[in-house]
Order: sequence, then structure tokens, then C-alpha cells
Amino acid sequence: MSDVERTEFNLPDEATRTSPLQRNENVESEAHTGEHDIERSLRPKGLDEFIGQPKVKEQLSLVLTGARNRGVTPDHVLLSGPPGLGKTTMAMIIAQEMGTSLRMTSGPALERAGDLAAMLSNLMEGDVLFIDEIHRIARPAEEMLYMAMEDFRIDVIVGKGPGATSIPLEIPPFTLVGATTRAGMLTGPLRDRFGFTAQMEYYNTDDLEHVVTRAARILGVEIDKEAAIEIASRSRGTPRIANRLLRRVRDFAEVNGDGRVNLVAAQGALEVFDVDDKGLDRLDRAVLGALIKGHGGGPVGVNTLAIAVGEEPSTVEEVCEPYLVRAGMISRSARGRIATRLAWKHLGMTPPETAAGLF
Ligand SMILES: Nc1ncnc2c1ncn2[C@@H]1O[C@H](COP(=O)(O)OP(=O)(O)O)[C@@H](O)[C@H]1O
Ligand SMILES: [Mg+2]
Repeated sequence: MSDVERTEFNLPDEATRTSPLQRNENVESEAHTGEHDIERSLRPKGLDEFIGQPKVKEQLSLVLTGARNRGVTPDHVLLSGPPGLGKTTMAMIIAQEMGTSLRMTSGPALERAGDLAAMLSNLMEGDVLFIDEIHRIARPAEEMLYMAMEDFRIDVIVGKGPGATSIPLEIPPFTLVGATTRAGMLTGPLRDRFGFTAQMEYYNTDDLEHVVTRAARILGVEIDKEAAIEIASRSRGTPRIANRLLRRVRDFAEVNGDGRVNLVAAQGALEVFDVDDKGLDRLDRAVLGALIKGHGGGPVGVNTLAIAVGEEPSTVEEVCEPYLVRAGMISRSARGRIATRLAWKHLGMTPPETAAGLF
């Protein structure tokens, strides 16, 4: 086992590890079997149950209420942000709040325009179409999507070669909700067709404590406030991770005690599962290690870092990096990633005079 193997609770969106085909079936069941049902039971069902993200909630609430009052379908919504912050949950909430159904698919599953045409032609008026990882949609499908989003109409090509004809097809008004971990990778024309873009931010510890207490209540776990804060502060600002850590801490408390989760149990479990006091896991520390021990602190390109830790560049870029940047451990420059003084110290090393950062 390589020492950078990802701990279970810090896996990126499981979707990034499966093939595009599996991915289609997995859009909804994105967690491991067994844990999947739990993850679903923990999803907030309505906007008022959704913890944190006050700005997104307020803006979205306006968009949805406005549409409801006018009796129209809401504008298309783009949700962007790192994995595990609640994009899929929010898409489900939008459908729930509008009292309509949600159809789910993902960018990688829409390889041909025909795949999208099939989805679109099955929509009912007012449906929410959720496209996860929309930045990975294939070009022909993307072009069809432009017209569908703007005019609620598509051209279906029938036949091949010189005899091919295009048949216009009306689509009932629907709301597209796109989710992406890489808003920057969306093409301009696609981005422009969304009426509202919500940028999901990492959660603060207070909100995550709330997430942990809520999940503990649903799972029937007794937990101290101190323990909830401990789990919250090591969850990389991410509700999905908070929920996973809670489950691992519960396992630990059941095996080593009476199942009640106190601070000692939380700390013990987090140590066993290699989550350090900043919430960094083995992969995060491997990235910092490669940057500092392998390359003197950088600058290093993301591909080089990914090879050094044996991961896909996209995992390093979409999962590790955003949090390491936000934690003040690495900074990005045109020439590559640079370790800050904080990162050197976090690995127990003395930063060179030239290292960036104040601390
Ligand atoms: N605001 C929130 N409040 C409570 N739980 C949340 C919140 N956002 C996300 N979660 C939890 O985190 C898990 C992951 O959320 P999800 O919507 O799948 O994230 P994303 O699609 O952005 O990767 C969900 O199962 C849900 O239980
Ligand atoms: Mg998701």
C-alpha cells in the first residue's frame, strides 16, 4: 500500500474515480455501498435545513420565490465549488422547493449529443435537470445544450451523410442546474447561459459543528459539544468530510467505549485515521512533502506534484489544492505551486528565509 493512499473519508467525490459509464449510474449513489444510504439520509431536504452558505441561500431563495410568484420556471443555476460542499444537495433542494422532479446526469455521461437529446426529450414542464461535473460535457452535447437552455428547443439530426436531416424538437421549459468543481473550465457561451451562479465556499467551524450535531442526531449518536467542535475543526471546511469523520469517530467510540462520543474518543479516532490537527490527511501531507522535501518548496507544476504522490492531477488540483490554499499552506504562481512558511512548519521543518507567508 502506498503511503499516499487516500483515507476513506477524504476520498474526492467518488465519481472522479469511476469510469464515465459507471459514473452515469453513480451520479446519485456517489458513496460506498452501505454508507450511501447514510449519506442520503443526512442530506438536508429544504433550504431552511441547509446549514451555512448564507449568501447562496439568500440569493437562491430570491430566484426561486421570484419564479414561483411569476409562475415560471426559475433561471438556470450554476453551482460551483470543491467536492462535498453541498452542490448535489442544493440541486435536490431546488427541485424540492419548486415542487418538481429532479433528473440527474453528469457531464462525462453526455458523450454524444444523442445522450443529451434523450434526457431533454424526456423532461416534463418545470423539471430540474441536474448535470454534475458539467465542465466535462462533450462538445456536441454542449452545443445542443446552448439552444435547449436559451430557446427550449433542439435540433435532432436524423440519418447520416448527405441524406441527413435536422428535425426541430420543442423541449418543455425546464431549469438546468449545473455543478462544477472547475468553473474556470466552463466555456464562455455555456457560463453566460446561466442566470445565476452560486459559488459555494468552505464552511466555518461553527457551521460544521452544526452539521456534525445534526448528523449525530439523525444517526442516534450521543456527542459532546467539545467533540463536535473537534470533528468540525478537522473537516477541511467540508460537510461531507464532517459526516464521514463523525461515522469513524462513532465506530471508534463503540469499539473502545460505550459508544458515546467525547473529546478523547474524537481525538483518538482522528489519530487512528490519520487526520491531523489542521484536518489534513495523508494525501494532503504527501503533496506538501513532495513540494517541500522533493522540490525545496517550489515552484512546482501540479502535474509534477501529482506524479510524485501517485494521484491524478485533477485530484490534486480539485481536492487537495483548494483547501491547502485556503489553509494558507500553498500559494499559486504563474510558475507553479509554492509552499508557504506555514507549510514548512506544519511538516516540522524550518522554512528558508525566502519562503512566502508571514508565519
Ligand atoms: N449545508 C449542509 N448542511 C448539512 N449537510 C450538508 C450540507 N452540505 C452538504 N451536506 C452533507 O454533505 C454531503 C455531501 O454533499 P453533496 O451535496 O453531495 O456535495 P457535492 O455535490 O458538492 O460534492 C451530503 O450527504 C450532505 O449530507
Ligand atoms: Mg455532488
